[in-house]
Amino acid sequence: MTEQVKIFDTTLRDGEQALPASLSVKEKIQIALALERLGVDVIEAGFPVSSPGDFTSVQQIAREVKDSVVCGLSRAVFKDIDACGEALSVAERFRIHTFIATSSIHVDSKLRKSQDEVLEMAVKAVKHARQYTDDVEFSCEDAGRTDPDYLCRMVEAAIKAGASTVNIPDTVGYTIPTEFGGIIQNLFDRVPNIDQATISVHCHNDLGLAVANSLAAVQAGARQVECTLNGIGERAGNCSLEEIAMILQTRQELLGLSTGINSTEISRSSKLVSQICNMPVQANKAIVGANAFSHSSGIHQDGVLKSQNTYEIMTPESVGINKNNLNLTSRSGRHVIKHRMHELGYKDSDFDLETLYEGFLKLADKKGQVFDYDLEALVFFDQQKQQE
Ligand code: KIV
Ligand code: ZN
Repeated sequence: MTEQVKIFDTTLRDGEQALPASLSVKEKIQIALALERLGVDVIEAGFPVSSPGDFTSVQQIAREVKDSVVCGLSRAVFKDIDACGEALSVAERFRIHTFIATSSIHVDSKLRKSQDEVLEMAVKAVKHARQYTDDVEFSCEDAGRTDPDYLCRMVEAAIKAGASTVNIPDTVGYTIPTEFGGIIQNLFDRVPNIDQATISVHCHNDLGLAVANSLAAVQAGARQVECTLNGIGERAGNCSLEEIAMILQTRQELLGLSTGINSTEISRSSKLVSQICNMPVQANKAIVGANAFSHSSGIHQDGVLKSQNTYEIMTPESVGINKNNLNLTSRSGRHVIKHRMHELGYKDSDFDLETLYEGFLKLADKKGQVFDYDLEALVFFDQQKQQE
């Protein structure tokens, strides 16, 4: 038996707000439908009050999406919440997500209010959002740098006011995993009504720790992770959906946790987001990078040909990729060359492996990567030579 962790995707809100050019309504719908196929629990579709275009796209997504909850973001002010309520009312199921900053840095310098005033604004916002729906999420912006006592007070007050999800963002990606896990643990230890809400986390990647921090948080009891496809988002981005989903799937036995993500949709969803957002994915990116299932060294290639799990902890098929890729370079051995020739339709009697391998190594030293057509040419020239 595993416990379910909800996946809340914010590609269309936190991800989109970091793009140099905003997406069209049509493009946003394409991404929303991909997220629905992927099986995300909640799609944060945008920030309706921010512009008429955002309002329209949130509304259209709310109309189209049936299987995921559609969510809109609002500051802790009534006009934002009303815009969310209006844009989302056409949805089958919707959530209003309202937030306010809680760290002293933000409360003093940005909001210029007292902690009590901010707490009162949060409570009023949650109660106002509850007039539209029972599904209200409240976020303590910059929770990672918030005084722990104040964070506990805020979380308790938000739950009491009616928030069914309370989100703990590491807005500036400042914390490290043991610390962030500790922040979540502290809430479970000290907030008396914590069991009445789902605790969510939303980690940014400024120190490259967004996924590790999210994992530490679910190990401490958080049951919703906010993330984006390919990890796109403000500055260095957000927790990457494909990474956290595949960690929970691959290490399910150890962690005792699972998600509703249909992992075989990951590769094509990632490609769609990369193309539409014009954000290339680095080749060595975990799960979805071009090299994530490529093997280069001869020892590794020989290993995976004998048994895939020697160097693959998950199958390419499990994330929607047809097969792994064995790069033919000077580090490749005879075994992989023979295997590739068989894949190309050649029988052992069609080529002399030693001669082919000798030619292959010379070519690989010259041009780095050797392709199928190079192998075929080597065999062809050898056959010609035999006939002379
Ligand atoms: O990073 C952040 O704190 C946010 C909130 C609005 C949830 O994006
Ligand atoms: Zn964010």
